[in-house]
Amino acid sequence: MRVLGIETSCDETAAAVVVDGRELLSQTIASQIETHTKFGGVVPEIASRQHVQAVTRVVLQTLSEANLTFTDLDAIAVTQGPGLLGALLVGVSAAKGFALATGLPLLGVHHIAGHVAASFVGTSLQPPFLSLVVSGGHTELLTVDEHFCFQTLGATKDDAAGEAYDKVARLLGLAYPGGPKLDVLAATGNPTAYHFPRSVLGEGSLDFSYSGLKSAVANVLARQRREGREVCVADVAASFQTAVVEVLVDKATMALQQTGLSTLVLAGGVAANQGLRQALHQQSQKLGFQLVVPAVELCTDNGAMIAAAGYWLYKAGRFSNLELNATASLPLVTWQTGMGVDNDEGLLVEKVELGRISPL
Ligand code: KG4
Ligand code: ZN
Repeated sequence: MRVLGIETSCDETAAAVVVDGRELLSQTIASQIETHTKFGGVVPEIASRQHVQAVTRVVLQTLSEANLTFTDLDAIAVTQGPGLLGALLVGVSAAKGFALATGLPLLGVHHIAGHVAASFVGTSLQPPFLSLVVSGGHTELLTVDEHFCFQTLGATKDDAAGEAYDKVARLLGLAYPGGPKLDVLAATGNPTAYHFPRSVLGEGSLDFSYSGLKSAVANVLARQRREGREVCVADVAASFQTAVVEVLVDKATMALQQTGLSTLVLAGGVAANQGLRQALHQQSQKLGFQLVVPAVELCTDNGAMIAAAGYWLYKAGRFSNLELNATASLPLVTWQTGMGVDNDEGLLVEKVELGRISPL
């Protein structure tokens, strides 16, 4: 089954074609990083406009690189939320337009479900498993079952891990997006130079909190600068990264123990972090669980993860219809049940036979 995936939730216009949720045929990513770097972060209005300019070209280029046309596809999957509303609307409108014109089934994908599905690409991974999702907007521990249904075990109470990376990177004078730059810098610093707080949030808790850590870094930097002491940014980066990674590894380990699951899937943009990948690898060797980590280019936002998730939705008959709408803060549970969305009947109901939308 060939699924086209379209992703426009933030600052990448991305598309890909994936076969049976596992084999990547082609993918295109038009990044807006250069534009937003001038502003030190993503400017939503500009992001939407650039998605409008790029989306058709990105989709057509992806099909052409796979030597396919729309008639060779089985479905179109698109990120419906969460993300920047204007940005999401561009992808959703484009996907609806393509579905309407071609009669292909439409599948609305939750962005986090997409990140998790990236782990199926190029692997033989089978649910059930535990997933640690760490991105710019999310830090969550989830169970994923055989039907690609999710249960949230823990989530961040404030900032997401990637957000903390970007904010601390900015404090250290690194340009947007700071996470990957901080990662490189951390590899050259002393991880025990500073002891930053590890937020545990009570015994057995699988929730996360990063705002205290970010403030602790800000305070140390302010104090050192006030006292005229030179700040070794590499040491601060390494110590910060150690604090983040330690909590992520500890809580993921605890979740494996609590659920009895033996496979951990790392997902989301921060899954590209070398320190986190290494620490989880060591932990998996020590404790003997299976660790699945997507290739670095599939960790940050891309179309392949949306196409891969679309395959699972197709298999489960979880089709969308032309009432599919972009939702900026779409809870995973709402998306799964199709309840509480603007559409009375829910987004996941199969309105048209086999989810197919009749061409005009
Ligand atoms: O998943 P993603 O591409 O977008 C969201 O869904 O949010 O994640 C982007 C986040 C950004 O905060 C970025 O700084 C962070 O992932 N990130 C990293 C690394 N690569 C991306 N953080 C730490 N180390 C990295 N190597
Ligand atoms: Zn993402």
